[in-house]
Amino acid sequence: DNDIVVLGIETSCDDTAAAVVRGNGEILSQVISSQADLLERYGGVAPKMAEEAHSQVIDQVVQRALDEANLTEKHLSAVAVTIGPGLSLCLRVGVRKARQIAGSFNLPIVGVHHMEAHALVARLVEMELQFPFLALLISGGHNLLVLARDLGHYVQLGTTIDDAIGEAYDKTARWLGLSMRRGGGSALEELAREGNAQSVKFSVPMKQHKDCNFSYAGLKTQVRLAIESKKIDTETPIFSASSQDRSLRADIAASFQRVAVLHLEERCERAIDWALKIEPSIKFLVVSGGVASNQYVRTRLGEVVKKNGLQLVCPPPKLCTDNGVMVAWTGIEHFRKGRFDLPPPADEPEDFV
Ligand code: KG4
Ligand code: ZN
Repeated sequence: DNDIVVLGIETSCDDTAAAVVRGNGEILSQVISSQADLLERYGGVAPKMAEEAHSQVIDQVVQRALDEANLTEKHLSAVAVTIGPGLSLCLRVGVRKARQIAGSFNLPIVGVHHMEAHALVARLVEMELQFPFLALLISGGHNLLVLARDLGHYVQLGTTIDDAIGEAYDKTARWLGLSMRRGGGSALEELAREGNAQSVKFSVPMKQHKDCNFSYAGLKTQVRLAIESKKIDTETPIFSASSQDRSLRADIAASFQRVAVLHLEERCERAIDWALKIEPSIKFLVVSGGVASNQYVRTRLGEVVKKNGLQLVCPPPKLCTDNGVMVAWTGIEHFRKGRFDLPPPADEPEDFV
């Protein structure tokens, strides 16, 4: 197992990431190039621009990952690459690179599902984490509760009926005039620390639905209305706001966060109930994806898990947000079980992908 070495490539959204990981879970390198400047300027990801940014840096990012791991392509056992879900223009940049390396060096290739990678990276972090386990995956585009019964065998217990929690964090952050670098969520988390979480009475979504699904569109609207009723000028960045205005914004941030996370707590409580009926041996709840890097989220879900006699596995923030390690690791998990594609032809035309 220690002899397996996999290169992972991730380009599904706005980060270009690559990493080299060993079969025993040792991270030999991890490199990430983010489009923070583009995000700041445009307040979001525009696919065509993101694709160009990926294309510009992909070769360097992969080269650095190999250099920092002190190896060359020849030492690799396989190349893993995210094939979806994500922006197809962006995914293609990573897939093209992966196929080019795999073709030139006669390496098998493992296509990786981005959300599976968010979940499975928890098994690199916590070697005790065996199947079956429960996973809450929270990111900019997805909100999933999944019962992971075995590798490749997942039962979806809940998903969002509209927006994901990360999207709600990002919109709220933008309306409050926060920096969109690093996606807005972490800036909102910081501002929320200054605010009173009880000051604005937002209602918890989907109370009447006794299932494990999520909804954040309504909460976004509630936030929007609160911002309008408090006459906050959403065009003024937070650093130029008056101290009174800043504290109003902090109150909204804190109140939003409390309710957004309460929704997660309620759904997790129910999912634990459901999951234990299907798989009574479950011991762990994995919480992963960009929003799982939030300390308030981690603390609150830690409480839920403890109350139900389970253990929480939440990867360190760098492995919660998009990264190459999770892709390499998921590649390793599948490769070990013989699930991979044969090397592509060495002379494959570039525009094949
Ligand atoms: O998993 P991820 O890096 O990319 C996707 O697959 O979407 O997640 C990105 C999301 C963004 O919405 C970002 O605002 C959010 O994760 N995020 C956070 C925090 N850090 C990143 N949300 C709340 N608190 C944070 N500290
Ligand atoms: Zn992600």
